[in-house]
Amino acid sequence: MTASVNDFVFNTTKSVINAPGSIGEIGKCARQLGIHKLLLISDPGIIAAGLLRQLEQQLNAQGLNYCCFTEIVADPPEQVVMAALAQAKAEGVDGIIGFGGGSSLDTAKLVALLAKSGESLADVYGVDRAAGPRLPLMLIPTTAGTGSEATAVAIVTTGETTKMGVVSPLLLPDVAILDAELTLGLPAHITAATGIDAMVHAIEAYTSKHKKNLYSDLLAKQALQLMASNIVQASNNGTDLAARQAMLLGAFLAGQAFANAPVAAVHALAYPLGGHFHIPHGLSNSLVLPHVMRFNLSACHAHYAELAPIIMGAEFIPHSSSEAVASELVKYIERLIGRLKLPTHLRDMNIAEQDLPMLAADAMLQERLLINNPREVNEADALDIYRAAF
Ligand SMILES: NC(=O)c1ccc[n+]([C@@H]2O[C@H](COP(=O)([O-])OP(=O)(O)OC[C@H]3O[C@@H](n4cnc5c(N)ncnc54)[C@H](O)[C@@H]3O)[C@@H](O)[C@H]2O)c1
Ligand SMILES: [Fe+2]
Repeated sequence: MTASVNDFVFNTTKSVINAPGSIGEIGKCARQLGIHKLLLISDPGIIAAGLLRQLEQQLNAQGLNYCCFTEIVADPPEQVVMAALAQAKAEGVDGIIGFGGGSSLDTAKLVALLAKSGESLADVYGVDRAAGPRLPLMLIPTTAGTGSEATAVAIVTTGETTKMGVVSPLLLPDVAILDAELTLGLPAHITAATGIDAMVHAIEAYTSKHKKNLYSDLLAKQALQLMASNIVQASNNGTDLAARQAMLLGAFLAGQAFANAPVAAVHALAYPLGGHFHIPHGLSNSLVLPHVMRFNLSACHAHYAELAPIIMGAEFIPHSSSEAVASELVKYIERLIGRLKLPTHLRDMNIAEQDLPMLAADAMLQERLLINNPREVNEADALDIYRAAF
């Protein structure tokens, strides 16, 4: 018997360093990339957590010339990207470090591209529109969540409620540094929400309709193995370094998986929650996750059943049918979100029932994501899912 393997193309980050304390490698990496002056891109929360100081100590000790842009805000709008870009040009830097959550990393990716290629943001929105080249780019995540350090994507807020993406292999960094010491102080609710975001990346990659492939499956399973067994410990006992490192690596592997087998309806229904109600990305995903999974059961129970023992660990009980195993997985995901003490209903998030049709109409605009869903989602389905989550 021969096993069949789908054809695929797989792009990823060139180099990854996975170890507590690995920001100590930053000088060596910068020199290998031939950088003389760096722009460090981060946000005020990273300064308040004392993390920027730690990175600056490393840069100073290693005699590296650098300047800082620390005005990143969550879900960065175009003006913030442009301000960081203006500083990169004014200072004449020849290398970029993104340091923080997905918002800082995504901005760093765009600045590295636009500062060198001379393209404008409007030129590069969409898939494979960037021509490059870009400046050398190093990304240091401080949340175990978006996996931005492993994806060819950067997301920008373009209007009151809308986001646009730049998708290009040029946005994959030269180096990702995964140092869990930087995540020890991440508050429990952000650890939980960003961790669920990363688990969703792996689950949606594993069930992705068109580009699921051998590599993305391996990565998604290993990512879930690491994160499902560590997310509760990392959230409830934030100083557990081993649990934190496992989450950081899991989020990176999940990023590699969904960069090549894209996410689907969970993200499509999560985006309008962020856009209209400013709910953080991870929490938006968590609020709709069990309900989208329940909707998807008829189309992908076999895939969910394959993931069930990995995610459920000791709580997994074999059943005779994959339908039964898959619905137990959905119930387990609901219990997991409860154990993480995340809100579970849209009505607890200042959302009114009459807002749901507008959210459903907006979710339909995420066609780029919906086409990857294992089951077709129409506007009435989206409304039913939001009602179930209400
Ligand atoms: N590029 C991609 O592939 C991709 C994928 C999904 C989401 N995104 C984007 O990423 C962004 C969300 O990123 P996020 O969820 O990481 O949140 P974030 O970057 O917005 O950061 C959330 C908050 O956590 C704080 N924080 C981060 N690390 C900390 C630490 N170690 N200790 C204390 N506080 C810390 C930050 O200061 C910030 O206030 C959104 O813009 C989303 O659109 C990108
Ligand atoms: Fe996400």
